[in-house]
Amino acid sequence: MLTTRFTELVGCTVPIQQAAMGSLSQPRLAAAVADAGGLGMMAVYGDPPELIARQIDETRRLTEGILGANFILHFVDPGQAQECIAAAAERVRVVEFFYSEPDSKLVQLVHRHRALACWQVGSVAEARAAADAGCDFVIAQGIEAGGHVRGRIGLLPLLDAVLEAVRTPVLAAGGIGSGRALAAVLAAGADGARIGTRFVAANEAEAHPDYVRAIIAAQPEDTVYTEAYSFGWPDAPHRVLRSCVAAAERFAGEIVGETLIRQHGERVPIRRFETLTIDQSTTGTIAAMPHWAGESVGRVTHVQPAADIMREVVDEAERLLQRWSRGEYRSLKP
Ligand SMILES: Cc1cc2nc3c(=O)[nH]c(=O)nc-3n(C[C@H](O)[C@H](O)[C@H](O)COP(=O)(O)O)c2cc1C
Repeated sequence: MLTTRFTELVGCTVPIQQAAMGSLSQPRLAAAVADAGGLGMMAVYGDPPELIARQIDETRRLTEGILGANFILHFVDPGQAQECIAAAAERVRVVEFFYSEPDSKLVQLVHRHRALACWQVGSVAEARAAADAGCDFVIAQGIEAGGHVRGRIGLLPLLDAVLEAVRTPVLAAGGIGSGRALAAVLAAGADGARIGTRFVAANEAEAHPDYVRAIIAAQPEDTVYTEAYSFGWPDAPHRVLRSCVAAAERFAGEIVGETLIRQHGERVPIRRFETLTIDQSTTGTIAAMPHWAGESVGRVTHVQPAADIMREVVDEAERLLQRWSRGEYRSLKP
């Protein structure tokens, strides 16, 4: 049993938060992770309050586990932000923000609706600002992370400094796809890990099969930190597979395909270098669309249920940590 300040605060049985991942982190994935004892996250930004409520209520019917909602404020209509956040905070245990300066008013709003507030941060200064804003925990995201990346340095030096700087529980994010990596950050003092890329190949994520195949074939060296996919969200560095940037550069034309916006039931065109997650509704030149992937990608080896991913990561971490605590640290294999 890996009990930490995070599991005790949030009520999980496992110190893993599944990262919100755009259209891949819909009810089925969040519910599967929550059922397996982790914190199951839904990306709810971009939706009006009534859709947020419906999506969370739908997920709640699938699981009695612990759920959270993720906001990237760039995609939230400022006129509806308060209502959107309130709709989420009334229904989930954790409301989380990413890619904007920590804001105590938003944290207070979350607390008024009796949810916990957290912020994914990329620097020590941002971690301090999140803690000062009243966040219940923070997530330190290293530059190894897949998708949009706030961190500018490697996870371990960042985690080291953030753990020194704040008293709240701290999760580690970026490049964690195995029990070995989870054990490492727990041993370093983190209260858990946030995992994204590994869940792209979960059955429940319903990612596009071409994207999943590319992720399974890739190694950490095949990822690149870039600002290539900036249409719709400029000035926001991210990590993707190098191959998709090359394919988008080669692509002649402006529209690479189309995708279904599930909540609205309408299909929309996708522009070259546009920010989106490639799910099973997406059609067109998939190879040229953003293949978000962290340096954890080497541990994505096949499609499997989210519960199996959770079990593998946790069992491996537990074995390693027990071995360490018994003083058997000279053994090389878990
Ligand atoms: C496919 C994908 C989509 C992502 N979308 C989001 C998102 O919608 N919101 C968010 O806060 N972070 C998002 N992230 C970043 C994660 O929060 C997290 O920092 C990252 O996945 C951790 O690194 P890892 O991918 O190596 O596990 C995304 C990551 C991936 C791989």
